[in-house]
Amino acid sequence: MYHLLIVDDDKINLATAKKALSSVYKVTAVTSGEQALRFLQNNTCDLILLDINMPEMDGFEVMAKIREDLSLADIPIIFLTADSDPQVESRCLKEGAMDFITKPFVQNVMLSRISHALELEALRRDLSAELEARTIHIKYIQEMMVIGMATMVESRDLSTGGHIKRTSMVVRIFAQKLSNEPDSLPKSFLDKVIRAAPMHDLGKIAVDDRILRKQGRFTPEEYSEMKKHSVEGQRIVQHILEGVEEAEFVKIAENIAHYHHEKWDGSGYPDGLSGEEIPIEARIMALADVFDALVSKRCYKEPYSYDKAFSIIEESVGTHFDPKLGKIFLECRPELQALYDSVCNDLEKII
Ligand SMILES: [Fe+2]
Ligand SMILES: [Fe+2]
Repeated sequence: MYHLLIVDDDKINLATAKKALSSVYKVTAVTSGEQALRFLQNNTCDLILLDINMPEMDGFEVMAKIREDLSLADIPIIFLTADSDPQVESRCLKEGAMDFITKPFVQNVMLSRISHALELEALRRDLSAELEARTIHIKYIQEMMVIGMATMVESRDLSTGGHIKRTSMVVRIFAQKLSNEPDSLPKSFLDKVIRAAPMHDLGKIAVDDRILRKQGRFTPEEYSEMKKHSVEGQRIVQHILEGVEEAEFVKIAENIAHYHHEKWDGSGYPDGLSGEEIPIEARIMALADVFDALVSKRCYKEPYSYDKAFSIIEESVGTHFDPKLGKIFLECRPELQALYDSVCNDLEKII
């Protein structure tokens, strides 16, 4: 049964309305704005019938206070007015009331206005739930497409199988640790970094197969070709995501692709940025990227032991890596070892 809250300082009006509505709805009746707000602190309702002219706090003020509270902001409000002034009516609707009912009440009119308002509200909720579900679905499809593209790019590079999936899992663990830090980065930002991580090497699509699949070390020319994947990656990410994803996410994904090979001391590529000039999302990605390269088998090296990999990272904190982030990354060792001992080994078998 729908629950209505009626707010009216006129006790006779209140009693009339309560009598007319009680057979169809659960009704709570109060005589002032303060009482209504107090009721809403601990209770909720499906619709509010709100008198405009009340002493102390008028209906407009009460509505403004209700709208300030996000948990109450969606409750539809119908104003009760003894005024048939069109200006008052237009102000009611302009300020966010769903409808208004003039006093003295005509029972049938009041009942049908309330039932229409409740139907409309139910429809609005259904629509927004459906929209939310569709948005989530579209985002999921898009993420799967991006991961599919990244995996395709990676499959050309015979030496780094599983790198995209593993680095994404490393970023997730790292982000989790970062979110527990005092003055941590906002969770919404870290979630975007996790979602963008699989795109960090998309630019490798523009690198020649001959270089990508080369067994052994690169010549200086080949290395400078390989380095182009960062700039190319930024361009591709921008091309895929712009206009589809929200601007903040596009920027984060672009920065990750563009700057994940920059180093804290300025000796990285492509732009030789240093310190905090390097976007923090790229500094996070750099740690995950290098860690995976160290503990994985590459065509030019066997996997390093965890001891060796973590000591290389530790030595590079302050030169290659952001000192603060590097220290926190090192604290992720138990979780990272557990990940590589279990999931990543299985991943190797699947890929
Ligand atoms: Fe890269
Ligand atoms: Fe990478």
